[in-house]
Amino acid sequence: MEKKPIITIVGSINMDLVTITSQVPKRGETLFGEHFQMNPGGKGANQAVAAARLGAQVQLIGCVGNDRFGQDIVEHLQKQGVDVSDVEPVTDVTATATIIVSDQDNSIIVVPGANNYVTASFVESKRDVIADSDILVLQLEIPLEGVQKAVQIAKENGVKVILNPAPIQHLPSDLIKDIDYLTPNEHEQELLSQDRSAEELDGKLIVTKGNQGVCIYEAGEEVIIPAYKIDVVDTTGAGDSFNGGLAHALSRGLNLKDACKYGNAVAALSTTKLGAQTGMPTGAEVEAFINSQG
Ligand code: RIB
Repeated sequence: MEKKPIITIVGSINMDLVTITSQVPKRGETLFGEHFQMNPGGKGANQAVAAARLGAQVQLIGCVGNDRFGQDIVEHLQKQGVDVSDVEPVTDVTATATIIVSDQDNSIIVVPGANNYVTASFVESKRDVIADSDILVLQLEIPLEGVQKAVQIAKENGVKVILNPAPIQHLPSDLIKDIDYLTPNEHEQELLSQDRSAEELDGKLIVTKGNQGVCIYEAGEEVIIPAYKIDVVDTTGAGDSFNGGLAHALSRGLNLKDACKYGNAVAALSTTKLGAQTGMPTGAEVEAFINSQG
């Protein structure tokens, strides 16, 4: 049987505590919400589940707490087909993300807990796993030193790197130069571009713009890959779905534009259900959706 490309994701694993409300409380105010649910999330875990549902071989490197949330999430990830051999329990709490979904927008507060243990030395202990991968995917919900170490190992071993710079922070130029694809949203791009030249990001920048699609910047030109129109229930995790889809498509040899188109379809379908991972589609669902759009 043909060996599947390996996608390794180094990143965050959270329990999402989601409140749906029509109104967000002002300072000092208490309001009744409409609905509450808990579901596994975290940008790293979301990207892992997105790629695994599409049929990719996915390994996740990260940490959970030695608590109930950690156990539940690891079981859930296994059921989704994610290889969790390199997810380790630590003596801390599993990260939580308190998410408010309102008519206006989504807002999120993350308490990192166990994600803080994904340090350079932890990542170094996973060197062989990263070195044997085809694509490495990262975000910024773990310590930057862990991200830097993973990128260094990937570069030493010819592994392609996608960095989703969320939540955004200042990134050293040394790190940027070793990234093959950077996938900020519009707000993150503003901050990312502030202190660097367009040339530094040329050929690697893919900006996700919600219902406007994604914009690729190559050879000084901007190419828009339009979004699919769909009835949206919850956009939480749409960016993660795009990144998981992009990684899967690139690992199968699609060119960048087609990979972005595929990522757009995965992201669109993911928004049709409440919860970051609930609506993430299978590969067959994405193919059927793309074909139905003509
Ligand atoms: O990108 C969405 C994710 O951001 C949520 O699942 C939440 O855990 C936060 O990390």
